[in-house]
Amino acid sequence: MRIDVVTIFPDYLAPLDLSLIGKARRDGLIDLAVHDLRDSTHDRHRTVDDTPYGGGAGMVMKPEPWAEALDAVLAAGAAASVPDGAVPHLVVPGPGGVPFTQAMARQLATEPWLAFACGRYEGIDERVYEYAAERMPVTVVSLGDYVLNGGEVAVLAMVEAVARLLPGVIGNEASLVEESHEDGLLEYPVYTKPASWQGRDVPAVLLSGDHGAIARWRHEQRLERTAARRPDLLPAAATLAGLEEAEVR
Ligand code: ADE
Repeated sequence: MRIDVVTIFPDYLAPLDLSLIGKARRDGLIDLAVHDLRDSTHDRHRTVDDTPYGGGAGMVMKPEPWAEALDAVLAAGAAASVPDGAVPHLVVPGPGGVPFTQAMARQLATEPWLAFACGRYEGIDERVYEYAAERMPVTVVSLGDYVLNGGEVAVLAMVEAVARLLPGVIGNEASLVEESHEDGLLEYPVYTKPASWQGRDVPAVLLSGDHGAIARWRHEQRLERTAARRPDLLPAAATLAGLEEAEVR
């Protein structure tokens, strides 16, 4: 997969060199390029923002550098690993976007080319979205109902959520199956050795060797945990499991 990120803080994306994502890049599974938006400016101060028309607090990101940077992304990807004629799916992180979910991560993981545009300040001039949409699919995506200072941290989260779904990125792909949000339920609690620690014992069923009983216990734990922490998920989980809602309660 090709991934391009445009930001005024390229150093913010340095963690993408670490751990499994870093290894996937070195193994050639992910071709990731970070672009400095200021490289697409042409004034002495490398200006990327200006005051908002209509007044109001803060600054707005100017359209000219963004258009040039998106053109540079299209050219860079085409010169790199993407299939002929492909365009990226542009993801713009922002608190006003559609919610990022595991289902969206799975969808994005099927695409050959993703680009991320990190806004700062009060946002990006709206005409940039129109310019981009004439060239590629564009989705504004929110990590949750809170406000970050910019898109960079959201890109770290989204790239990690997508990259770990790519074949070969995670050694043990079975570990992807029973995770929170894969089937609409939260994960069951896990334990490791020692069997007794500070007077707290691992639940006896996990030591029983009875795989049926263990599976039933884990499923009950998932339902209880989901009911306690995320009751909003239960109806969707029931639909996914092909059950009546009543059976879940
Ligand atoms: N940028 C600022 N706030 C954000 C959020 N909640 N999600 C994604 N990007 C953001």
